[in-house]
Amino acid sequence: MKPLLIRSIEGEPIERFPVWIMRQAGRYMPEYRALKERYSFSELCLNPELSVEVALQPIKAFDLDAAILFCDIMIPAKALGFDISFAPGPVVANPIKTFEDIKRLPSFCDLDPLKTVFKAVELLKKEIGNRALFGFAGTPWTLACYLLDQKPFKHFERTSIWLHQNPTALHLLLEKLTELTVSYVMAQVRAGADVIQLFDSWGGVLPAAQYQEFSLNYTNRVFRALKETNSKSILYINGASHLVTPLTKVEADGIGFDSRTNLETFDLAFEKHTLQGNLDPSALFDPAVKELTQKLLKKLTRKNRFILNLGHGVLQETPHEGVREFIAAVKEFKL
Ligand code: CP3
Repeated sequence: MKPLLIRSIEGEPIERFPVWIMRQAGRYMPEYRALKERYSFSELCLNPELSVEVALQPIKAFDLDAAILFCDIMIPAKALGFDISFAPGPVVANPIKTFEDIKRLPSFCDLDPLKTVFKAVELLKKEIGNRALFGFAGTPWTLACYLLDQKPFKHFERTSIWLHQNPTALHLLLEKLTELTVSYVMAQVRAGADVIQLFDSWGGVLPAAQYQEFSLNYTNRVFRALKETNSKSILYINGASHLVTPLTKVEADGIGFDSRTNLETFDLAFEKHTLQGNLDPSALFDPAVKELTQKLLKKLTRKNRFILNLGHGVLQETPHEGVREFIAAVKEFKL
């Protein structure tokens, strides 16, 4: 039988809703912090054996329905010649400053520097039994936000300024990032990924009028390429409340969204899509996390095409008891 999470996306019979947690591997786990004493974050991402070890940590500690490749959305930018480090957020030593910098980027990139990532997907697949395996990438817009980001702004306003001052340059950058992302996720699928999630973590900074032109149109090109494969696709968007109308044009199988976004609105607006979300990550610190999770599940009118998750990544000091109660809530919830 197919993994529960895949059946839920396909609308096939399910015994309960599946669950996984964004950023399920990471600093809230002591096993992860122990490895970080010996290796840098980039080493954990680029060494296949270490990446698999980290990805399996939450699978061993909690009974989750999916594993996710351990890597970062900024790692593929290395294939375009960007010098990326983490402190702990991404730092680009050679950010884009001019249109010339964009023109100089290769259009077709050599994925050789990323082959260890595909190896990690291949190895991880063998270790996770009948769970779904997520590969992922950032959306072209969200990657552009990090590559163009320069002080003094805090919320990637630099990228929105390019949109107004030099839209042609921004479109060329998004074009090149789309080419990179298509080849990167297709290689993950060939290596064994069942689902590809594209993270539009900064899509929500765009006004609704520009979201389609500068983010969704590019992201949809990646989803169209994935349609030629057997894999499933999910768009995660942070700050999605004002984007319901443009998002109805998404060409992914599912949409994941943040906790400020109203679940009921999405439940009605996206009847044919799978929804993924959206408990507030801080709710895992609440002694009543199980009730809060079941309250969220009761709001749904659907009995399928749903994946329980948080609205954003799990927070650093999250108590493991909270994680266990969150998972137990969906396992005990009667459909
Ligand atoms: O378990 C998983 O979900 C897989 C691993 C994963 C990481 N980053 C590991 C990571 C995934 C899927 C990501 C995606 C990612 N990376 C996103 C999209 C999700 C989101 O949060 O919106 C973004 C925006 C990034 C960029 C990034 N990388 C940031 C902002 C940071 C710092 C965040 C923080 O928590 O401090 C990183 C570093 C990073 N990526 C860490 C991990 C485990 C922390 C590195 C460390 O241990 O020091």
